[in-house]
Amino acid sequence: MSHEQSSDLPPRVRLAHSPTPLEAMPNLSARLGGPNLFVKRDDCTGLAMGGNKARQLEYYLGQAVTQDADTVLITGAVQSNFVRQAAAAARKCAMDIHIQLEDRVPHNDATYMGSGNVLLDHLLGATIHTFPEGENEAAADANLEAIADTLRAEGRRPYVIHLGIDHPPLGALGYIDAGREIAQQARTMDIAFDAVVVATGSGLTHAGLLAGLRAAGERAPVYGICVRRDAVQQKARIERRLGEVLELAGLPQDSANAADVHAEDTWLGPGYGRLTDEIREALDLAASTEALILDPVYTGKVMAGLIGMIRRNDFKKSDNVLFVHTGGSPALFGYEELNTAIPR
Ligand SMILES: Cc1ncc(COP(=O)(O)O)c(C=O)c1O
Repeated sequence: MSHEQSSDLPPRVRLAHSPTPLEAMPNLSARLGGPNLFVKRDDCTGLAMGGNKARQLEYYLGQAVTQDADTVLITGAVQSNFVRQAAAAARKCAMDIHIQLEDRVPHNDATYMGSGNVLLDHLLGATIHTFPEGENEAAADANLEAIADTLRAEGRRPYVIHLGIDHPPLGALGYIDAGREIAQQARTMDIAFDAVVVATGSGLTHAGLLAGLRAAGERAPVYGICVRRDAVQQKARIERRLGEVLELAGLPQDSANAADVHAEDTWLGPGYGRLTDEIREALDLAASTEALILDPVYTGKVMAGLIGMIRRNDFKKSDNVLFVHTGGSPALFGYEELNTAIPR
């Protein structure tokens, strides 16, 4: 595992396959009648089936290695991609992994509780804890700290990846890298993007991407499609995270500001991890036009948002719009509602 230390930036370990491809989606563009759609394939970051969290984990694991940790702890929803990729990252860095799975969605069938990401967590050899309160980030973090205390008492050296907002947004640095990568690819392909759409959950992807694009001179608006909170709460969260990540990266605070933060909650539906008809349509359309496999919790919602924004005439037909595929496809296999029987 290569370990990078630059004088100014926090330490980083290499975990993601990057640069990830940036591709045109001509079939989907034609089906929707324009604009010109492109996809950033961050589902192809490798690390136990890919996704955005590989880039974020490069900085968390960089800190864990620097602190000489031997065990990583993380909390998330039962079908969390972050938890699955954190387990993979810990293993790549020869560390143990404890995961805490929260009851965040009203699913408790065998498929949700045992397949998809959970199956991968087991394969990666994670020690699994459960936590009943899926909507209380502070309580989830506190319980994780209690597990870390127990490990410390046993002589272990735990490193906790916190969920709550009162901890530095280290992971967002991974999306500054991605923003710069996209700007470089746009230049090579001779495309100017008019808009970017991306999932906004913890917000580290959204805030980091915005900071990275602006640092690279890209001015396209970045639309965060809400997956967990409404637009008012999410915008406030991203504004705060943006200031923090600019500081962490040593970028000027005026590189991006509150007016540059867009959060869209029209496609949030009944809440986190709950399927809607729009998500089902998005999953079908992306797969049947571009063989692009999305996920039911994040990228399906973002594609539903992109389709909705196109139908709402938010874009000109000549616009170039970038959809950021942040991964998550293992969760498809955790959703019983998506199971289909072969007709016979
Ligand atoms: C597949 C996928 N996309 C998007 C996100 C949202 O990223 P963030 O938490 O950085 O907002 C997540 C978060 O877990 C995810 O797993």
